[in-house]
Amino acid sequence: MKRFVVGLSVCMLALGMAGCPKPSKKKQNQKTTKRTVTKSKTLVIYSGRSKKLVKPIIEMFTKDTGIKVKVKFGKTAQLALLLNEEIKQKKVSADLFWSQDAGALGLLEQAGAFAKIDDKLIKKTPSFLQNKSGLWVATSGRARVIAYAPKKVKKDDIPKSVFDLTKPKYKGKVGWAPTNASFQAFVTAMRVSAGEAKTKAWLEGMKKNGAKSYPKNTAIVKAIAAGEVVYGLPNHYYLLRFKTKDANYPVAQTFFAKRDIGNLVNIAGAGLLKGGKNAANAKTFLTYLLSKKAQEYVTQKAFEYPMIEEVKANKLLLPLKDLLNTAPTVELNKLRDLKGTLKLLTSVGLP
Ligand SMILES: [Fe+2]
Repeated sequence: MKRFVVGLSVCMLALGMAGCPKPSKKKQNQKTTKRTVTKSKTLVIYSGRSKKLVKPIIEMFTKDTGIKVKVKFGKTAQLALLLNEEIKQKKVSADLFWSQDAGALGLLEQAGAFAKIDDKLIKKTPSFLQNKSGLWVATSGRARVIAYAPKKVKKDDIPKSVFDLTKPKYKGKVGWAPTNASFQAFVTAMRVSAGEAKTKAWLEGMKKNGAKSYPKNTAIVKAIAAGEVVYGLPNHYYLLRFKTKDANYPVAQTFFAKRDIGNLVNIAGAGLLKGGKNAANAKTFLTYLLSKKAQEYVTQKAFEYPMIEEVKANKLLLPLKDLLNTAPTVELNKLRDLKGTLKLLTSVGLP
């Protein structure tokens, strides 16, 4: 928890320095409010998604709609905590939260952060990645995979389940990133689906089996290429970034057996913030994120899974239908207990 408190204060400092707009103090009657909304050509977003990905989409959006966007970037978990504070103080300064994972959305949903999203928009996304209360919507899909060194691994060597990686066969051969947010969301999913005891045993087993820790997913993929480890547990898109630069990059990746928790499909998603000053523009932006144009961008440039049927997944990816048959069916809203996961990781001496 300590790291969050620190993160939050840095975040608030950054917010102050970035000079995010203060909530307007004007009291407006209904008539003027309506006129303001129609006239408003701005939008404030808190984004846990990276600038590299978000900026081009926002530029397209502004060009297409004339709505100017101010973005505060940060780590998803830190921005969620910041918003939580703002909600408590009834001073929400953003209109939309764009999250890197479902856990933070679940957490904010519980805090009453979100206004309801049009059902029609939510129904554009795959049903088991939908938020049933209609308070956030998935904007792209991100899968956990098993990456490996194809020259050292035969097809039969690839484990059927992430739980197999504690076996002697994999001793000293696996790379992971225990401090990485996506890994931690995956551990939360394991706690939800397999229970606390089994998850703890897996983490301890991995440690005992000499799993090598890396700071992030990119480093895991590089370590496989460099021969430091043979297998790794990253998100699916990291390797694809290397492969587009070098088709012979010496790493491959696949999924565990169907529905294994190691194949977790998490989402990036967004919610409309209650109390935002530019609600109509936030809705326009959310609709835009699920438009053909933005979804094409997300899958072609960022190698993520598109969330609408009209857009085919990048040819380097599985078709979305196949991905959904491979993914475990974990209710994404239940991934909100990051605090419990951090506690568990600490209890087994990780990171
Ligand atoms: Fe990532």
